[in-house]
Amino acid sequence: MTIRSLLLGRERGVRATLWAQMTGRFDADAVLASARAAAAPAVELPAAVGESVALLRVDQIPRGGVTEAMLDGEPVAVCKVGDQVYVLDNDCPHSGGPLGDGDLQGHILSCPFHGWTFDVRDGVCTLDATQRVKTWPARVENGVVLVTRPA
Ligand code: FES
Repeated sequence: MTIRSLLLGRERGVRATLWAQMTGRFDADAVLASARAAAAPAVELPAAVGESVALLRVDQIPRGGVTEAMLDGEPVAVCKVGDQVYVLDNDCPHSGGPLGDGDLQGHILSCPFHGWTFDVRDGVCTLDATQRVKTWPARVENGVVLVTRPA
């Protein structure tokens, strides 16, 4: 891991985008175009499958096993552990850190800001069980990560 990635996360992640905005090196069109290119699936995703919503292709989840995706216009953290996928709220309850930019070790996801840790299976904070993030049931079908909305 480089110092840059420690400080700014992924090249096109939330922290890198915020840093570019704060330092005035923000080209909204370029950021938007690159984000769209990065998020654009190579295959057509169905908008919805029954009660489920397609988030991204499973092969778009990077090697570390965690990334960000959009669900109904809101960012979520998508984690892959073995063949299982987990979808959690992207906002850390401590101070809003982007969990999808965090570090995944087994089923434990660490917030990139101050290191709070969450079990991706139920969203419970391992440091303080009174804290948790929302989770959604998720599965992989035909290489696509699907999230089930609550009824
Ligand atoms: S914002 Fe997540 S640990 Fe502080």
